[in-house]
Amino acid sequence: TDQKQALKARIRRQLEQHQAVLVAHYYVDADIQDLAEETGGCVSDSLEMARFARDHAAQTLIVAGVRFMGETSKILSPHKRVIMPDLEATCSLDLGCDAAEFTAFCDAHPERTVVVYANTSAAVKARADWMVTSSIGLDIVAHLHAQGKKILWAPDKHLGTYIQEKTGADMLLWQGSCLVHDEFKGLELELLRQEHPEAKVLVHPESPAAVVAQADVVGSTSQLIRAAQTLDATTFIVATDMGLLHKMGQAAPGKYFIAAPTAGNSATCKSCAQCPWMAMNSLQSLADALESGANEITMDADIGRRAVVCIDRMLDFAA
Ligand code: 13P
Ligand code: SF4
Repeated sequence: TDQKQALKARIRRQLEQHQAVLVAHYYVDADIQDLAEETGGCVSDSLEMARFARDHAAQTLIVAGVRFMGETSKILSPHKRVIMPDLEATCSLDLGCDAAEFTAFCDAHPERTVVVYANTSAAVKARADWMVTSSIGLDIVAHLHAQGKKILWAPDKHLGTYIQEKTGADMLLWQGSCLVHDEFKGLELELLRQEHPEAKVLVHPESPAAVVAQADVVGSTSQLIRAAQTLDATTFIVATDMGLLHKMGQAAPGKYFIAAPTAGNSATCKSCAQCPWMAMNSLQSLADALESGANEITMDADIGRRAVVCIDRMLDFAA
């Protein structure tokens, strides 16, 4: 529409004026994803977002995603300006892991290596030995397990259970979950697979064990896109936020993607799995944030200095 084109033009102008780069997650509005790519920014999973934002020369980063993504960029580049379309865009995993309670949990188990998921507050990261994202959590825990380390894991219980089963590591799990992925249902997925026996099943590891158990590929958003491109199949059942289907469709043209069933929705529902916080990123909120410059991430210097240690460990491991 005309209004959309006008908003996009405003955003392009503002990005140039601020010499800013747009870093977007796969779950945000499809137009924002396309704009990020067209303007030399990136659209990716949370590990690649962090690395791209750190390494890019631009001194102003516009992070379209949820709060922890903007905070991670700020922690890695304290001297850059980090602006988000909406600072209220949080994550149920972050909300479910209060820093004071988490610190008490860690203090009660001092013999354990503390590994936290990226989807946490800066204060939680400041208490951790390692931060991981879904794309690299398995490898890092396998590495720690091989060194004989016992793990304290937070906050996602499903991702923790998956990693524990894969690696055999001794992991004490915080009991958090993602409100989007927690809704995928194992039994309904079995029925859907019977209707589409030729389909391959792609699952984000924040999903419950009964769903993960049926996956052909379990992985981060980027890893699921790669699987859609490379697996020898034309039909896929996808258990993650439906925002991912935009890039999947572009990356694997001619293939078919079916939303995995969630509670209370029919198997054919196209928009049942949608993160309400990712959805706060719209062309309008992005344009407004760029124009006002108001939604800037600030970071307590001491927390930032402590939190960067666990993020750098992950990035060094990934390098
Ligand atoms: P990815 O690192 O796989 O992009 O996951 C981020 C996220 O919030 C998934 O819900
Ligand atoms: Fe958090 Fe789930 Fe939203 Fe990802 S989809 S940002 S884990 S609430």
